[in-house]
Amino acid sequence: MHTLHVLHVVGARPNFMKAAPVLHALGRRSPIKQTLVHTGQHYDVNMSDVFFSQLDMPSPDVNLGVGSGSHAQQTAEIISRFERVVLERKPDVVLVYGDVNSTVAAALVSAKLGILIGHVEAGLRSFDWTMPEEINRVVTDRLADLLFTPSEDGDLNLAHEGVPGRKIFRVGNVMIDSLVRLLPAAMRCPRNGFPERYALVTLHRPSNVDDSKTLRNILKSLLEINEDLSVVFPVHPRTRQRIEEFGLNAEKLHLSGPLPYVEFLAMQQRAAVVITDSGGIQEETTYLGVPCLTLRDNTERPVTVTLGTNVIVGQERGKLSSELSKIVAGKAKKGTIPPLWDGHAAERIADVLLTLQ
Ligand code: UD1
Repeated sequence: MHTLHVLHVVGARPNFMKAAPVLHALGRRSPIKQTLVHTGQHYDVNMSDVFFSQLDMPSPDVNLGVGSGSHAQQTAEIISRFERVVLERKPDVVLVYGDVNSTVAAALVSAKLGILIGHVEAGLRSFDWTMPEEINRVVTDRLADLLFTPSEDGDLNLAHEGVPGRKIFRVGNVMIDSLVRLLPAAMRCPRNGFPERYALVTLHRPSNVDDSKTLRNILKSLLEINEDLSVVFPVHPRTRQRIEEFGLNAEKLHLSGPLPYVEFLAMQQRAAVVITDSGGIQEETTYLGVPCLTLRDNTERPVTVTLGTNVIVGQERGKLSSELSKIVAGKAKKGTIPPLWDGHAAERIADVLLTLQ
C-alpha cells in the first residue's frame, strides 16, 4: 500500500497551535509520512521557537526563512521558495492552516502543481475586504480540495460560495485541541508578580495599530481602564514598533514582550476580562468562559458572539467602557462552548485524510 505523504505548512504564530494536534493525530496513525515546512514568516524566538517546544512539535524539515516584508514581497518569496520544496518532496496532500500570508501562498503553489490541498479552519468570513486575512481566507478556500471547518457558519459560507458539500468536513476547532491538552500545564504556571485582578490586552491588527490616531485613542482608553483595573499587555512586535514610531507612551500599563503559549493561556484563564483584536483569542476565551471584548467592527468567528462570551465593541470608546463596567459589576455575558470544540478535531481530520490512502 502507498504510504500517504502529508506536508504541513506553518509560518506565523497562530498556525502553530493549529498544526500541532494534527501532526500528533497523524503521527498516531502510522504508516503516514509527514513533512513540516516553516515559511519563516515569524522568526523571533518568542513568536516561533517557544511554541514549537511547548506544543511538542518536531523541528521543521524545511525552513524557507522568508522573514518580514510587504504583503506582496512576503507572499512572493514564500511562493517561489515553496514551489521548489513541493517539486522535490512530492507530497500527496498539502495541509495549510488559518488565514495568514503563508496559508494562501502555499495553497497557490500546490494548486498550480496539482497537489491536493486541505485547509484547516476553512469557511470563516468577516466579509471585510480591508482585512488581509479575509483575502487569504477566500482565495485559500477557493483553491482547497478538503475544507475542514470549525463550526456550522463555516459550512454555510462555503455553500453560499458554491463549494460542493462533498469537499466540506465539519471537524471542530483544532486550536481548542491544543488548549485542552495544555490547560493543565497552564494551571500550574506561577502567578509571578502579575496583579490579582486584571484586564489582559492584545493588539496587532493593522486597522488598530498602523494609524497613529487610532492607536493613540486605544492606548488612552487602556490607560483610563488601568486606573481601576490593572491592564496587562504583552505587546506584539508590529505594535511595539508602531508605539515607538508614533512616539506614544504606554509605560503605565503592565507591558511585556509576546508570551509563550502556556503562560499566555494561564493569563487568559485568570483574567477578569480579555480585550483583543485577535481572532484565535476570541475562541480561546469562549472555551474558557472568560469575558472577551473585541476591538474590531466585525468577526469571522460569529459563534463566539452567538454562543460564547465575546462582545464586539469596535473602536467606540463608549461601548468599550460600558461593556467593561458590566463585567466589573459581575454582570458579564455568560456563554457556552460551541459543538465539536472538544479537543478531538485533529482526530477527525486524520480520519478524513486516511480515507485518501
Ligand atoms: C500575522 C498575520 C496575522 C496574524 C498575526 C499573528 C498575515 C497577513 N498576518 O500578522 O493574520 O494574526 O501574524 O501574530 O499573515 N515581526 C517581528 N518578529 C517576528 C515576526 C514579525 O519582529 O517574528 C515584525 C516585523 O517587523 C514585521 C511585523 O512584525 O514586519 C509584522 O509581521 P507580519 O508577519 O507581516 O504580520 P503580523 O502583523 O505578525
